[in-house]
Amino acid sequence: MTGERLLLKAIRGEAVERRPLWIMRQAGRYLPEYRELRRSYPFKAVAQSPELAARVTLMPMARFPLDAAIVFADIMSPLPALGVEFDFDPGPVVEKPIRDRAGVDALTPPDPARLGPEVLAALRQTRDALPAETALLGFCGAPWTLAAYLVEGRGRKDFPKLRAFAAAEPKLLEILLRKLSGAMATYLVSQARAGADAVQVFDSWAGLLSLADWERLIRPHLEMLLQTVGEAGVPRILFLQNAPHLLDAYAGLPAEVLAVDWRVDIAEVQRRYPSRAVQGNIDPAVLLGGAAPTRAAAVALLQQVRPEGHIVNLGHGILPQTPLESVSALVDAVHEEQAT
Ligand code: CP3
Repeated sequence: MTGERLLLKAIRGEAVERRPLWIMRQAGRYLPEYRELRRSYPFKAVAQSPELAARVTLMPMARFPLDAAIVFADIMSPLPALGVEFDFDPGPVVEKPIRDRAGVDALTPPDPARLGPEVLAALRQTRDALPAETALLGFCGAPWTLAAYLVEGRGRKDFPKLRAFAAAEPKLLEILLRKLSGAMATYLVSQARAGADAVQVFDSWAGLLSLADWERLIRPHLEMLLQTVGEAGVPRILFLQNAPHLLDAYAGLPAEVLAVDWRVDIAEVQRRYPSRAVQGNIDPAVLLGGAAPTRAAAVALLQQVRPEGHIVNLGHGILPQTPLESVSALVDAVHEEQAT
């Protein structure tokens, strides 16, 4: 049956009966049943329980005929294996931000068995419950996006402490990124062995540095991560956010799928890199306006982007206030294309 998973066909750029659709952060707070569950359990408790995480992973699948499930976890989930302590408020808050040599040295080489074992268990449980035609996705944070939280200490506009660290301590940043990319490569391959058909690398904060600094400081580590995962035979989706100036640079990295946000002309990306599948890229804010603008945006996207090698998605995570009708409108637009 695996050969029939639409998402995998699209990743390979093959002709499809219709385009596959999934939604970044589809297992999140816009779902009333998720909010209900969270009245009983804090986020960390849900993420640390394979049973609860698998249940949340399946929540959007019960409501909408999406073509992929993405395991419910956070980009920080594997980091305890490196000795990192953190909490959520609501985003990650790192207990001891890493700003010096001692902080970088304190990151321990992880025992592979300790890299997100609860995430791997959730993947196995989810796979058992999913229909054969539905793909299952694993994911990790890109080394730079993880470093953003580790150095800054928490999400902050433009991450000034991170950028200061990159400028003042490039050697320490290099060691930090090397440790993170090695650990994430192991983690992604483990996720594939636990049942993930493909993995997405979230580089949500890709765009913070100039192209020249990205090439010098970041690229080698992201490339190593993607290369290692590719050598293990795992299909890779590479997502970059708010980084139009880095698009060509990311397109030069080894990944089957380039996932872009709404700032980028995705049809042009498809034309420019014909061997690459593309994923995206409706502005999540459009869905806040309800079914009509969502349908209009979806129809426009389908008209502009050729179906082979296109995975329909938003350009970033679905927003908590999104009406369910908007998600239905998106699903309907994608499914109706088949009939026309
Ligand atoms: O949104 C992205 O850019 C994707 C990459 C990313 C994730 N977590 C993946 C994720 C990033 C940048 C994070 C960091 C993070 N962790 C944030 C972002 C905001 C900030 O302050 O920096 C937040 C809010 C968290 C904590 C967190 N993660 C919560 C509370 C939840 C539950 C769901 C929700 O929306 O409330 C998550 C889940 C999460 N983070 C998933 C993923 C892929 C699970 C899958 C899904 O929601 O579909």
